[in-house]
Amino acid sequence: MSGHGTPIPMTSHACGPLTGEARVPGDKSISHRSLILGALSVGETRISGLLEGEDVIDTAKAMRAFGAEVTDHGNGEWTVNGVGVGGFDEPDNVIDCGNSGTGVRLIMGVMATTGIAATFTGDGSLNKRPMARVTDPISLFGAKAVGRSGGRLPMTIVGAANPVPVRYEVPVPSAQVKSAVLFAGLNAPGKTVVIEKEATRDHTERMLAGFGAEIITEVTDEGRVITLTGQPELKPQVIVVPRDPSSAAFPVCAAIITPGSDVLVPNIGLNPTRAGLFTTLREMGADLTYENEREEGGEPVADLRARFSPDLKGIEVDPNRAASMIDEYPVLSVVASFASGDTVMRGVAELRVKESDRIEAMAMGLRANGVEVEDGPDWWIVKGLGHGNVPGGATCASHLDHRIAMSFMVMGMAAQNPVSVDDGTPIATSFPIFEPLMGGLGAKITRDTI
Ligand code: S3P
Repeated sequence: MSGHGTPIPMTSHACGPLTGEARVPGDKSISHRSLILGALSVGETRISGLLEGEDVIDTAKAMRAFGAEVTDHGNGEWTVNGVGVGGFDEPDNVIDCGNSGTGVRLIMGVMATTGIAATFTGDGSLNKRPMARVTDPISLFGAKAVGRSGGRLPMTIVGAANPVPVRYEVPVPSAQVKSAVLFAGLNAPGKTVVIEKEATRDHTERMLAGFGAEIITEVTDEGRVITLTGQPELKPQVIVVPRDPSSAAFPVCAAIITPGSDVLVPNIGLNPTRAGLFTTLREMGADLTYENEREEGGEPVADLRARFSPDLKGIEVDPNRAASMIDEYPVLSVVASFASGDTVMRGVAELRVKESDRIEAMAMGLRANGVEVEDGPDWWIVKGLGHGNVPGGATCASHLDHRIAMSFMVMGMAAQNPVSVDDGTPIATSFPIFEPLMGGLGAKITRDTI
């Protein structure tokens, strides 16, 4: 099954040392939000370093469909001339968000408090994912949603013409849900309050403040209480999108498991709500250092230096860290296969509702490649074999999930036998330059004919 055209099987072969600099693309979360907040501002927002992956391009197209002028100037430079808060036009046609849960959920939030209707769809992966987590809170503002059974896309949202502000405690640790509610709150009068028990990525809060909204976060016994004052006039911004720590994870982990490697991944945002993987890798004994630590645009940034680490050990990953590394568990499970002993990952039920059921997808592929995995509803354990002992040799299903495909490509770089995926096309959703970038470091990834 592919939602990305003809499937392209790929194989990753054992390679020599990975060396050099890995300039990974712009941050996916910040790229979506830059386009959306630009579309909600009056005037021209200028963006550089935008991730030009399929997910973000689908959000750019959606912003055009809602009336914003979005222009690609080449080389990651984009401008958005926005329509202002509450200014979305009703789209003429169905909004196709492709593979992107972030895109569809954030956009549903924005339009939920405008008096228009829009119908959303996506690819085979997105149309399986739960949307009730967004339609429940937006109904409190007065919006209505009609979708397929189980709250699945395709789905029509009828926005509330006279929205009321809400107070909402997010029931699952999800930045997408938090952000959808905050974006809906933008066009509601008065104060919208969102409470999250566990801190999730805070780009929406930081960027809303940057665009001029009044937004305050208080850390209380209830959790993080975020209060947004509705109907602000958002002011256009000049945004430099930092490089994506979730994409950096792939060259970093590849270098850690591949003998002789020494890779520099420059300019990576180390916002504490995103950087959990790097802390975890260091606890496992990885030779991963932060160089040139600095602040850029109010965010901690460093150059990551990852070197081959032959003595990795399995650990119990702190479940309180799960939200800060939620997209990185697939590639962590690959590193765990090359560690000695068990790596135990708990408190990760959310992994089952990502672009694929990521516990299931990784467990099946790891087992096929000779690594034992145990799993339950919200936990899994990878039984590491130690460096040099991972058999490999299997073809894994990528399940329309970019991070599953890239994780198995990383595994093939250090396994005894090549590792393949049935379809590498989903990689283009978040990391379109993955193959040339990894090839430039010394990886051997081939496209196979079917
Ligand atoms: C994202 C939030 C996370 C993450 C996704 C991007 C965001 O999803 O998995 O890749 O940009 O808000 P959840 O909010 O569902 O955890």
